[in-house]
Parts: sequence; C-alpha cells; structure tokens
Amino acid sequence: MGSLVGRTRELRTLRAATDAALKGRAGVALVAGAAGIGKTRLAEETAQYAESAGARTLWAACLPREGLPYWPWVQVLRAYARERGLQALIAGIGAVSQDLARLVPDLLPSAEPEPRGQTLDPDQQRFRLFDSVATFLQKISDAQPCVVVLDDLHWADAPSLMLLHFLARDVRDARLLIVGTYRDDEVDRDQPPPPCASFSLD
Ligand SMILES: Nc1ncnc2c1ncn2[C@@H]1O[C@H](COP(=O)(O)OP(=O)(O)OP(=O)(O)O)[C@@H](O)[C@H]1O
Ligand SMILES: [Mg+2]
Repeated sequence: MGSLVGRTRELRTLRAATDAALKGRAGVALVAGAAGIGKTRLAEETAQYAESAGARTLWAACLPREGLPYWPWVQVLRAYARERGLQALIAGIGAVSQDLARLVPDLLPSAEPEPRGQTLDPDQQRFRLFDSVATFLQKISDAQPCVVVLDDLHWADAPSLMLLHFLARDVRDARLLIVGTYRDDEVDRDQPPPPCASFSLD
C-alpha cells in the first residue's frame, strides 16, 4: 500500500471516533463517496490506527449480488472465530447462542431447538437477533476495544442495514467503533444507512 495522499481532515475525524471508542464511547462512522475515491483506503487507515492502539478489527465486505441475509454480519462473526477460535466465539455469545447460531450454522450447528410454546413472531425473532449481536459486540469490546469495518454498504441487504441502525442507536457505552463505507450514488434510497457521524469524499 503506497503512502496516503491528503485526507487529513477525514483521517482526523476517523481517528477521533476511534479514540472515543477506545475510551468507551461507541460510535458509527460512515464514509461515502463515488467508486474509487478512497473509501476503503480510509477504512484501512483507520483499522491500522486502531490496531496500533490495541484494538481488534473485524472486517466484512458486502457483495454486489445479494447472497445470504446478514452476510456482512456473518463475516464479522466468522472473522472473530478465525482470530479467537470457536470456543471464544461460543463463550462470547453465551446465553444468546441460539439466535446467532442461525446466522452461522457452519460455526454453531448444534443450537438447541426453540422450547415448545416459545415460538416468536418474525419481528420478535429479529429483535432478539439484533439484541444478541449488540450483546456480543459489547461483550467482546469489554475484553478488547473493537473496530468493525463494513465495506461497500451500498450492496448490503436490508436486514443488515436494519441491524446497523439498531446498533447505532442501542450501543453507546462500549469500546466499539463501526466504520461503514458506501457509494452514495448507488445506495438504495428506501434503505439508506443510518444517519450518524459521516462524511462524503470528493
Ligand atoms: N488518499 C489516498 N492516497 C493514496 N492512495 C489512495 C488514496 N485514496 C485511495 N487511494 C488508492 O486508490 C485506490 C482506490 O481506492 P479505494 O479502493 O479506497 O476506493 P473506494 O472508494 O473504496 O472504491 P470502491 O467504491 O470501488 O470500493 C486504492 O489503490 C487506494 O489505495
Ligand atoms: Mg472500496
């Protein structure tokens, strides 16, 4: 990777968000702009800065054609399992393993079936899943500050963006920063990323 040219202001903003997260003020920072303008590069610079300050980074990229729902979040869980091992993932998700197990059945194939009489409607199931991911991220951030990068969010499936909205509102006191990038000219107007600390590159 060649040396970074310019982007002083943007880098300062992202480093400030990282510093805040390291101190326990969670945040979401979005980088928008046209293809090739340098969004991923800024996310990489931020990840590097965070790692040198002792944070863990978990990287996920969305794909152009919708694959599995929650694909970027599946990658976040897999990245954690790759780095820390399956046992750490299981310990991290603890009591809520059943919901997350549905996301990563290859990692957690043996989730207990839903107890009889406790079937939740789809909205409740979704809420419980979102809450599980929030709890998981909070928990691993307690052990080590964490930066999650979600690259190319313009390709994210709608449920993944809903989860991002949920986390942006719900997770406050955690050593967690979520950095998202997206092409602002390709984003689905019906499913925009959450309104949070963000800027456009030009
Ligand atoms: N400020 C910069 N200084 C030096 N090189 C840069 C800078 N910004 C981007 N680049 C380089 O330009 C190329 C394209 O940048 P990048 O991949 O970050 O674009 P992008 O906005 O993520 O594009 P896409 O929307 O296609 O994902 C990369 O090789 C990257 O390293
Ligand atoms: Mg990119």
